Amino acid sequence: MLFFVDTANLDQIREAVELGVLDGVTTNPSLMAKEGITGEKNILRHYRAICELVGENRDVSAEVIATDYQGIVEEGKRLADLHENIVVKVPMIRDGIKAIAYFAEAGIRTNCTLVFSAGQALLAARAGATYVSPFIGRIDDIGWNGIRLIREINHLYLETGYETAILAASIRSPLHIVEAAKAGADAVTCPMSALLGLLNHPLTDIGLAKFLADHEKANKQA
Ligand code: E4P
Repeated sequence: MLFFVDTANLDQIREAVELGVLDGVTTNPSLMAKEGITGEKNILRHYRAICELVGENRDVSAEVIATDYQGIVEEGKRLADLHENIVVKVPMIRDGIKAIAYFAEAGIRTNCTLVFSAGQALLAARAGATYVSPFIGRIDDIGWNGIRLIREINHLYLETGYETAILAASIRSPLHIVEAAKAGADAVTCPMSALLGLLNHPLTDIGLAKFLADHEKANKQA
C-alpha cells in the first residue's frame, strides 16, 4: 500500500520525505488556502515546489477549481504540464466524470475526489480515473462507515476488473490507516499526525528503555 500525505505544507512534506516512506502528496483547495497560497500563478508555483521536493515517481494530486467541462479540461492540462508527478484531481460531478474520460484518453492521470458511495466509485473507474478518493473520515462523521465503503469498492473493482486505485482519504487516525489497508485500499492519504501515530506503542517505549538500561548496567560493570 502506498503512503501519501494530505497537506500543502512544505515543512510537513519535507518531514515525510525524510522519514523515507513517502509515495506522494494530495492537496485540495482548503489545504492550499490554509497555507495562504492564492492566485493561479502562486498556486502553480507551489505545486511545482511540492513536486520538486518529493522527487521522481511520486504522485502529487493537484485539484482543479473549475466545475464546468471545458474549464476542468483547460485547468487540468495546465496542471499536468507543470510536472510529470502531477495527478489532476477532479471532483465527482457530471462534468468531472466527462473530463476524467477526456484525460484518460489524453494519457493524463486523474484522482476522482469527493467520493462517498460505491456507485460513484464505479462511475469514476469506468471513466478511467487513475485513483478514486473515498473520504472515510467524513463518512464516519455523519455516522456511516467509511471503512465499509473501502471494502465494498475493493470488492466491486475485483469483480469488475477495473484498475482504478483506491486512495483512502480523509484519514483521521493511525487506526484508519490500518483498517483501510485491511479493507483493500491501494493507498492512503493522511495527515502527518496519523502517519507518525503508526510509530507509537507503549511496549516499544518500555522495551527500548529496558534494553538501554541493561546495556548501560552491563557496560558500567565491564
Ligand atoms: C483528499 O484527497 C482530501 O484532500 C482529504 O483527505 C480530505 O480530508 P478531510 O476530510 O480531513 O478534509
